[in-house]
Amino acid sequence: MHSNIINFDTIDSTNTYALEHFENLEDKTVITALSQTKGRGRFNRVWVSENRENIYLSIVLKPTKKDFLPNITQYMSVCCAGVIETYNVKAQIKYPNDVLVDNKKICGILCESYLKNNIIQGVVLGIGVNLNMPQSVLNTIDRPAVSLNIITGENINRQEFFNKLVNEFFNNYDDVIQNGFASFKEDYILRNNFLGKNVYIQQRDNDIKENFFAQKMDDNGNLVVIGNDGKEKTIFSGDIIL
Ligand code: BTN
Repeated sequence: MHSNIINFDTIDSTNTYALEHFENLEDKTVITALSQTKGRGRFNRVWVSENRENIYLSIVLKPTKKDFLPNITQYMSVCCAGVIETYNVKAQIKYPNDVLVDNKKICGILCESYLKNNIIQGVVLGIGVNLNMPQSVLNTIDRPAVSLNIITGENINRQEFFNKLVNEFFNNYDDVIQNGFASFKEDYILRNNFLGKNVYIQQRDNDIKENFFAQKMDDNGNLVVIGNDGKEKTIFSGDIIL
């Protein structure tokens, strides 16, 4: 089992804590909490974090070779999907790194860089997974969301899921740092729910959604699409809306 774990009962946000203490935390430290009072999502969204039987964790990563750090969120989505599948539940990945079950979001990933004098020192990779959310709480979330217990019909053991996820992540982490997207491209593509489809892409929350055909993933983990003008375009950031 991974040795470097810091457990909190309640904290504002495991990502915030990891960023605030980044310089004093060792590489590969895992910060976890039973609940968060200010859980954060991408695009400044709130991540609902009161339930004490979910996953809220952040990993401090300071590899020497940093070229492939941008792919680490996609790698985490593959790890999370793989762990969900051990519960006999089919998980899908929506570009770039949302994990969905039955087309509803079950897991969110937020990766934040730590800079010093404008130079990247590493990242904090945060992940939240809905394991035991009551339907009443899911209904308060402004986007379709689901929890693993609702799919399986059984309570999910938080510690067991946590151990599986952390082990899965560190199993191939070094390979990802060395070889990037190529080391898990197949596993990512296998689970995607967007390739070969017409999708909308939204760069930021309030931006106009543009329609594209999602053609393929390139070797760097970027989505290649074809626009209405027939031209190929690589999407570096943005969310897919199916
Ligand atoms: C998203 O899909 O918008 C990303 C959600 C990320 C949530 C996790 S929970 C643990 C860590 N701490 C946070 O405040 N956010 C991440």
